[in-house]
Amino acid sequence: MAKPRVLSGIQPTGELHLGNYLGAIRNWVEIQQDYDSFLFMADLHAITVPQDPSQLAANTYQVAAMYLAAGIDLDYATIFVQSHIPAHSELAWLFSCITPLNWLQDMVQFKEKAIKQAENVGTGLLTYPVLQAADILLYEPDKVPVGEDQKQHLELTRDIAARLNYLYGQPDSPILKLPEPMIRAEGARVMSLSDGTKKMSKSDPSDLSRINLLDPPDQIQYKLKRCKTDSVRGLWFDDSERPECNNLLGLYMILSNQTKAAVAVECQEMGWGQFKPLLTDTVIAALKPIQDRYHEIVGEPGYLDSVLKQGREKAEAIAIPTLNKVKAALGYSVRA
Ligand code: TYM
Repeated sequence: MAKPRVLSGIQPTGELHLGNYLGAIRNWVEIQQDYDSFLFMADLHAITVPQDPSQLAANTYQVAAMYLAAGIDLDYATIFVQSHIPAHSELAWLFSCITPLNWLQDMVQFKEKAIKQAENVGTGLLTYPVLQAADILLYEPDKVPVGEDQKQHLELTRDIAARLNYLYGQPDSPILKLPEPMIRAEGARVMSLSDGTKKMSKSDPSDLSRINLLDPPDQIQYKLKRCKTDSVRGLWFDDSERPECNNLLGLYMILSNQTKAAVAVECQEMGWGQFKPLLTDTVIAALKPIQDRYHEIVGEPGYLDSVLKQGREKAEAIAIPTLNKVKAALGYSVRA
């Protein structure tokens, strides 16, 4: 029997950080043996905010190398570049014609990013989730493993699929399958080191707010030394009153592979002076194998090109028939 399928992606906009790792990539690695995985770099999404053209392709390769370095295994997973597969853009256009404008105007990420860009808000920022729906539905995945911040986009994806099925399909034979979000409780929302109420993000202007996966040990140590804490004695999990403490204990718990109860007992009497070096050592030790493997991968000439070429072929073999199915339902004559 065929394995169920998962699909997910990351935008190649700046260095990947612990949030991307714990909210997404680490989970992909953990489940990969049980699923047929399609993982991509969302380079079309990247340009919804200005990108340096001389860096875009390099950043895209960097993310691919990071997937592999973190443990994605090509025996189970297909890695590809969104822009290599024109079906993504084409399906996004078809979807945009059935998506009510107010569905997009209600998206939290649009509102947040539109405020940052002030007057010159690009159309792409608004239609971003339509492209995301196309990314997902082209592959008809069973599950989409992401961090908490993507929940609303996945709900919209399901709404678009349901609307297409309603408008153009038959009740007993839907055109597209509705995927389920897969959001783990642990690591789904890693918070900023400068403010425990804001999520860790690539777009935060301060690099001190995040730990990048390629940060060298001295940088990790410096960032954790400087990160925001509080002046309460003893450490415990408390999302509402002690967001920074909650976040840092959570990172320690996941990266040291311990249970919440074990960490709660271990840290209850600690002050920050004792806990911060412990967390620093844990983060450095968790990232070291990923960093070593990353440098090996990017040092191997031609390797990533061959991975992405193979990925494109495997992804297209699924994407094109789905696109044709939708086009046929809308009344287009589809080339054989
Ligand atoms: P992006 O590039 O912002 O983030 C990639 C993945 O990392 C997760 N993530 C986090 N998880 C926990 N804590 C954080 N602080 C944190 N920051 C980011 C995100 O939830 C995501 O899983 N729109 C998507 C990219 C995309 C996509 C798709 C994803 C395009 N098409 C289709 C899934 C399916 C995005 O901007 O992710």
